[in-house]
Parts: sequence; structure tokens; C-alpha cells
Amino acid sequence: MSILVAPSMLSADFGNLDKDIDIVNNCGDIFHLDIMDGVFVPNISYGTPVIKAITRRAKRPVEAHLMIVEPQKFFKDYQSYGVGSISVHYETCLHLNRTVQQIRELGMKAGVAINPGTSVYLLEDIILEADYVLLMSVNPGFGGQRYIPESTEKIARLKKFIQQRNPKCFIEVDGGVNLQNAKEIKDAGADILVAGNAVFGSSNPSMAIQELREI
Ligand code: DX5
Ligand code: ZN
Repeated sequence: MSILVAPSMLSADFGNLDKDIDIVNNCGDIFHLDIMDGVFVPNISYGTPVIKAITRRAKRPVEAHLMIVEPQKFFKDYQSYGVGSISVHYETCLHLNRTVQQIRELGMKAGVAINPGTSVYLLEDIILEADYVLLMSVNPGFGGQRYIPESTEKIARLKKFIQQRNPKCFIEVDGGVNLQNAKEIKDAGADILVAGNAVFGSSNPSMAIQELREI
């Protein structure tokens, strides 16, 4: 199966959002929405009006990556806007199993995101319930950061673990993904590549998406 590309709208042109939404509609696989609260991560991104503007126009599945405390407060609203998948951070959820169930009960796919400093082995139990793991390859909070090289080995470790525990669970890699490192990330076992800067920072975003997919 060829790899899926999920452009991160954090790097889109917010003065001309429709144009960048249409690029993803035409060439991308998934809209990746980074929601930041300035508490869990040292940055605030965007909220409801922008999410609605994207879901209204989106012709591809939309996923929300919640880098916020108490993410469960927003599941119902996001579902009503048309978000199809939600990932929550392992580090923010005291009752992760319940939180994942809440997402699934609303008919959405549930992902568990982990920071670079969080071991994949902590996912041993929740991996049975999750539709995907979002492995952060930068410390969350900002687009355009450098890929942490050790992430590749971590993806391979996660892949092995997933094959034993729940082979249907996808691996999504997020942070610093570009044309130079996409091949090693794919070979290590990633199913979905998130790319912000590598897509919207490129002079030809459509081609960048295509090249990432064909890597
Ligand atoms: C970081 C976000 C990422 C990020 C990806 O906290 O979760 O989705 O915006 O952007 P690039 O590809 O520029 O690292
Ligand atoms: Zn993200």
C-alpha cells in the first residue's frame, strides 16, 4: 500500500485558506488539524471558526490532533463539524481508555499521540483499542521543526509491537517530515505522513504531496 499524506493545515496560508484547502482536496489524503491550547504545548494554534471553515470545504477525511488538556470537552462538537478522526495525547489523559472509547462511541476513529520522550511500550494495553498511533518526531507545539533522528528507530520498534498486539492499528508520523527523510520513515513502518512545512513551504505544494506519496 502506498503511504498516505496528511498535510498539516498549521502551515497553510490563513489569509487564503480556501486555496490551500483545495490543494489538499485535489492531491492530499487527509486534512491534519493541529489544535494547541498554550497549556499542554507552548503555543496556541486555531479553534472552532477555522476548523469549521476547513470541514465545510473539505472533500477528504479530516483528523484533529489535540494538543490540549481535557480534550474530551470537544469531541462532540468536532464530530458535529465533520471531523472523522481524533488523536489525543497519552500525556494529557488520566483515563485514556475511557477517552478513546468516547471518541469511538461518537463514530470517529481514535488515535493516541505520544511525545518524543514517551516510550512506545506504554501503549501496550491501549493499542488494542486504538485505530492509530500518532508518533511525534518533534516536540509538539510548532511547525517547521527539525525531525528528531532517533524517531526512525522508534517507529520500527512501534511497528513490531503493533504487529504483535493489533496489526490493524495505523502508524502516523508527525513533525519534520520531508522529502529527505520520508523514505526511511516509510521503511520503518509508517502508514501516514503528516507534513506541514514540506508541503505548504514548497513552491509547488501539490507536487510536494505527490512526491511524498511516491517516495
Ligand atoms: C507539531 C504539529 C505538527 C506540525 C507538522 O506540534 O503536531 O503537525 O505542524 O509540521 P511540520 O511538518 O512543519 O513539522
Ligand atoms: Zn500534528
